[in-house]
Amino acid sequence: MLFSILSFILYACVHCLHRRNTTTQKEPIPDLGLPEGVLRTWAQYAPYMPVARYPPPPLGCALQRHGARWPTKSAGEDYKAAVDKLQSVEEYHDENLDFLKDFKWDFDSDALLPFGADQSYAAGSAAFDRYSHLVGKENVPFIRTAGSTRVVDSASNWTAGFVGASDNTIKAEVNLVIPESGNITLDDSMCPNAGDGDAESDKWLAIYAPPITARLNAGAPGANLTDDDTHNLMTLCPFHSLIERAASPFCALFTNEEFEAYEYFADINKFYGNGYGQELGPVQGVGYVNELLARLTGQPVQDHTQTNRTLDSSPDTFPLDRSFYADFSHDNAMVGIYSALGLFQEPSPLDPKAPDASRKWIVSDMVPFSARMIVEKVECVQHLPAPRKIFVRLLVDDAIQPLKFCGGSNGMCTLSAFVLSQGYARSDGDGDFEKCFA
Ligand SMILES: *[C@@H]1O[C@H](CO)[C@@H](O)[C@H](O)[C@H]1NC(C)=O
Ligand SMILES: *[C@@H]1O[C@H](CO)[C@@H](O)[C@H](O)[C@H]1NC(C)=O
Ligand SMILES: *[C@@H]1O[C@H](CO)[C@@H](O)[C@H](O)[C@H]1NC(C)=O
Ligand SMILES: *[C@@H]1O[C@H](CO)[C@@H](O)[C@H](O)[C@H]1NC(C)=O
Ligand SMILES: *[C@@H]1O[C@H](CO)[C@@H](O)[C@H](O)[C@H]1NC(C)=O
Repeated sequence: MLFSILSFILYACVHCLHRRNTTTQKEPIPDLGLPEGVLRTWAQYAPYMPVARYPPPPLGCALQRHGARWPTKSAGEDYKAAVDKLQSVEEYHDENLDFLKDFKWDFDSDALLPFGADQSYAAGSAAFDRYSHLVGKENVPFIRTAGSTRVVDSASNWTAGFVGASDNTIKAEVNLVIPESGNITLDDSMCPNAGDGDAESDKWLAIYAPPITARLNAGAPGANLTDDDTHNLMTLCPFHSLIERAASPFCALFTNEEFEAYEYFADINKFYGNGYGQELGPVQGVGYVNELLARLTGQPVQDHTQTNRTLDSSPDTFPLDRSFYADFSHDNAMVGIYSALGLFQEPSPLDPKAPDASRKWIVSDMVPFSARMIVEKVECVQHLPAPRKIFVRLLVDDAIQPLKFCGGSNGMCTLSAFVLSQGYARSDGDGDFEKCFA
């Protein structure tokens, strides 16, 4: 399970096409001694890398995922079991495995990694650079986070980055930590009947992993690795590299093509877990979308799903007068939110047996560690005194989303078309929320 940071910025800009350009800076690709192409096959364990160069216009709201973390406790146990099997072998027939003779498992679990804290800080700093015109001493960002420690740490590191970049002039702080046990729009914990994508991703595992498993077992006779072990060992490439901040020797056990197949496993798993392939996937993003609409329109939240009505009806815990909002959340919650909004739609459901190379549903582009969705409210006048028009623009990891569902042109919809397009959220998920419990 992963987390996401959701930062949300609202702002209006006049003459938005003439903005200063400090905001076009692209955050660097992390230097782990591995090619960017490889990092982009690491699915939800990829470090943050912008998908595109941020195109200058105007104003926004952003959604972001927590920074890189240690493996979760239970997943870490599975990874270790696979490593133990390899380490039980006396003699390797593949020199790429020799590092295991000295490898010691000393992994922590669940917590944010120093690398993740740094990427969160950098994201906060970049957000200030990009949106400093939206904030001021009397207009500080409103920041919420889901309650898991790694998400809270991501939010506070992000906030420290934001405040630091402002030379301490903007006294932002984390305003609200929302427990994940109650009503929450920043976690996917409120739909007990939702299924997961394991059956579908296992179909793909059974196709892509056997040749790799056979090769590993030939290199480590007697290890008896299974396909699940193989997938877990591949997962150690991203995790161990992010922990060491350098290419892990686990990466060299696999080819780039194999990592592309690894990426597809997560694409499938999330598509059928919280995405369009899961009947109760998109509904899990509805509460957040309704909060987003409230912020974009300045109207009280109208929602009967995951929102905490007590929190959302108070200006102390859900203000509507800010120009910048940041929320921090988990990756699966973000996938549900993307799907509720209508982002990353595919012409047909992902095929668990064959990747379509032209698909847009690629988890390392959607929810890498420190992933971010930014929603910008753009107010433009073309020729004064022409009436002002308000638009919405939406970026995921700096890639402008086409917003076809609201007739987007150049990635912008009018605010009213955007609001109209969100009928699924505005109807509380067309009855799907009830199916979460019925
Ligand atoms: C903005 O971009 C232009 C052209 O790329 C450049 O000449 C100018 O120095 C930049 N301004 C700032 C403030 O960076
Ligand atoms: C940043 O995250 C780390 C955990 O990785 C945490 O210990 C630290 O307190 C956080 N820093 C700030 C400024 O919140
Ligand atoms: C809603 O938020 C209030 C205020 O933080 C809290 O006391 C309450 O337990 C929350 N309710 C639910 C159902 O999460
Ligand atoms: C692998 O299987 C063989 C034959 O069943 C067994 O002797 C050996 O102990 C197994 N190795 C591991 C690491 O479980
Ligand atoms: C929590 O959500 C449920 C389901 O929508 C709702 O019945 C309940 O009133 C909510 N509680 C609060 C405090 O918002």
